[in-house]
Order: sequence, then C-alpha cells, then structure tokens
Amino acid sequence: MKKEKVLVIGGSSGIGLATAQRLTRETYSVVITARTRARVDQALGRIGGAASGQILDYGDPAGIAAAFAQIGAFDHLLLAGAGPAAWGAFAELSRDALQAAFASKFWGYFDTLQAALPTLADRGSIVLVGGAAARITLPGTAGLAAVNGAIERMGLTLAKELAPRRVNVLSPGLVDTPAYDWMAPEARRGMLEGTAAKLPVQRYGTAEDIAEAVLFLVRSSYVTGAVLDVDGGARLG
Ligand SMILES: NC(=O)c1ccc[n+]([C@@H]2O[C@H](COP(=O)([O-])OP(=O)(O)OC[C@H]3O[C@@H](n4cnc5c(N)ncnc54)[C@H](OP(=O)(O)O)[C@@H]3O)[C@@H](O)[C@H]2O)c1
Repeated sequence: MKKEKVLVIGGSSGIGLATAQRLTRETYSVVITARTRARVDQALGRIGGAASGQILDYGDPAGIAAAFAQIGAFDHLLLAGAGPAAWGAFAELSRDALQAAFASKFWGYFDTLQAALPTLADRGSIVLVGGAAARITLPGTAGLAAVNGAIERMGLTLAKELAPRRVNVLSPGLVDTPAYDWMAPEARRGMLEGTAAKLPVQRYGTAEDIAEAVLFLVRSSYVTGAVLDVDGGARLG
C-alpha cells in the first residue's frame, strides 16, 4: 500500500520533530522542513524511518516556492514552525516584537499554506498549530493571543473554503520544547513546574503529547473545522 505523505513545516525541533518521529512509526512518509540544511540533516538523523527534508524559511518567499517544487504532491500539511513569540504585558508590548511574531508565525503560515495548495491532495488535510493563549485569558499573553487567534479563525473559515480538504487547528498549552532554551534553567523549571501545579492534569506537556494529537487529526477523516485543545485543561481556568 502506498504511504501517505505528510509535510511537517518546522520538523527540526519540538512539536514538529516529535510529530515526524511519531508519524514515521505509522504508515506515513514524512518530509520535514527547517531553515538550514544542517538543521534538516540533524533532525533526519533523529527521525530515521521514511523521512526526507527540505529547507524552508518563512522570510524567503522564493525559497518557499522552490521547496514546494522539490517536494511534489503530498497528502497532509502540518504547520508547526514559528520563530520567537511576543510575550509580555500589553502596556509594554513592543510593536516591533509583535510585528516580528506575526511575520514569523501568521504570515509564515499564510505564505506556506498558499504555496502548498497546488500540490496538496484534494482529499488531504491541514493541521495548523495555534496556541492556548488564544483560548484562555492570561495576562501577559495578549501578543500570543493575537497571532494564534488570527491563525485559529482563519483555519476555521478555511475548513469550509478548502473542502473537501480537512482543516483543523491544534491548540497546545505549555509544552516543554527547545522554544524555551533561551530561558535560564532555573526560570524555565519554575515556569514549567508552576504551570503544572495549576493544571488539572498536574503536569506540563511534552512534544510527544502534541504529536499524538496531530496523528489523530491526520487520520480522522470525519474531523474538520475542529480546534483541538491539548493543554492539560488550562482553558478550564
Ligand atoms: N512549546 C509551547 O509551549 C507551545 C505552546 C503553544 C503553541 N506552540 C506552537 O507550537 C509550534 C511549534 O513550537 P515548538 O515549541 O515546537 O518550537 P521549537 O522547538 O522552537 O521549533 C520551532 C520550529 O520552527 C522552525 N522555524 C523557526 N523559525 C522559522 C522560520 N522563520 N521559517 C520556517 N521555520 C521556522 C524551526 O526550524 P529551525 O530548525 O530552522 O530553527 C523549528 O523547526 C509553534 O507554532 C508554536 O507557536 C508551542
């Protein structure tokens, strides 16, 4: 049987990498992307299985087109790549930081998704990784809420507009990934454990938790227009 092909944007780290690993253990072939060849190759070494890679950087529209020309036809698209997020109290939130976050995550998803449509299977699917900041009201995350809220709302409209392709949004809560490598180890541990203590599940998320949920969305052919919260219950307040 021919394996379905999943394109994982941002497959070199964190959620994207864990998903690529999970999918190759099932009946999928995977193409991952990262911004450099070195990052692609490093990730492929950690995935094994039926995976290949392409360079794709949201900041390089010509490069995005070139990547899709190389990738050819595929069945499912996971958008999981993002640069730095715009954290901080609204009163001090820098316009430049928020614009950079939109440029990386929102416009990156937008450009990549538009470029993907000609080669994405008619009965294929799209998973947009949003973020719990758009689902809860947590002071200090207005910038994250704006970017992820835009992606979430756009995704739901696309579930109708791009049908019969399926479009779903996966909304992670706090997940320990290299996205937090910039933090001092003590502060990182404090954030993770402090959050875990307040969650119904009493732990923070792992990239593997999210990978499991992506797998569900990819193979569930009756699910579209869903926002799947994988957040340990954070949205319950
Ligand atoms: N971790 C969390 O707590 C959390 C919570 C809610 C939502 N999310 C969302 O989950 C998604 C994945 O996050 P993560 O935690 O797994 O992050 P991560 O470990 O930092 O991985 C980020 C990925 O994005 C790629 N990337 C960065 N800038 C890019 C650009 N300009 N163009 C294309 N690709 C780029 C990176 O590739 P390189 O190898 O080239 O750097 C890497 O593969 C993001 O959309 C994030 O907003 C995460």
